[in-house]
Amino acid sequence: MSQPQEFIFDSAPAGHSQSDIKEAKTRSQLGVIVTGLLGGSLVALYAVAAPFVTPALRKVCLPFVPATTAQVENVLRVLRARSGTLVDIGSGDGRIVIAAAKHGFLASGFELNPWLVWYSRLKAWREGVHRSTSFHISDLWKVSFAQYSNVVIFGVPQMMEQLELKLATELPSTAKVVACRFPFPTWVPEHTDGEGIDTVWVYDAKTFKSHLQHGTTQKTIPEHEEKPDSHT
Ligand SMILES: C[S@@+](CC[C@H](N)C(=O)[O-])C[C@H]1O[C@@H](n2cnc3c(N)ncnc32)[C@H](O)[C@@H]1O
Repeated sequence: MSQPQEFIFDSAPAGHSQSDIKEAKTRSQLGVIVTGLLGGSLVALYAVAAPFVTPALRKVCLPFVPATTAQVENVLRVLRARSGTLVDIGSGDGRIVIAAAKHGFLASGFELNPWLVWYSRLKAWREGVHRSTSFHISDLWKVSFAQYSNVVIFGVPQMMEQLELKLATELPSTAKVVACRFPFPTWVPEHTDGEGIDTVWVYDAKTFKSHLQHGTTQKTIPEHEEKPDSHT
């Protein structure tokens, strides 16, 4: 009587050689590695992309659109006589904060996207201004800007009215606010600089705070200008 095959130690199933089995094992291990790598890559891709995509899902969509070189220059020009603290609200890749620090400001950025904040910190360190800059992973609506005497915002029109109220409530009357690309809807700028998409508007806190105190924020639009329809 012949020995049954299953009792033979380390035997190959009928019709399969040892090398077939070894090859199958290697293939299955390779499958696990490839699946792991693919899964890991997808998770990493999601982790990187999500912070850039989620602003579009918020009530007010404020995407990452970096300031142009001319825009940064205009911001610095209108603030050339100023000093002290500066904040860029929604600081993106940190370009305004870093440029401001190079001009002597103690500059901070508040930004929702952690990748942009880490990138900004690295860039500030590489450019030698890490001591005069700070970057915070924060929602702009959940922090106070009371400690800043110079405020920069490159926002979108849908958020500017709400931001007027926040800044008028929080900022000291010595502060200046610079809006890039989109002006505030009811405040009157003390001056503007630049052209087209690089235009910046400068606002004096003494003026917009006094209008807030008197409950006349809407009346800050000069008599000769028509109010936008959305405010009627
Ligand atoms: C138009 S970009 C301006 C970037 C930068 N200030 C510049 O001028 O280069 C607006 C930035 O605001 C950030 N952001 C959007 N919603 C935010 C929020 N709720 N709080 C803080 N930052 C926000 C976006 O991730 C984006 O980087």
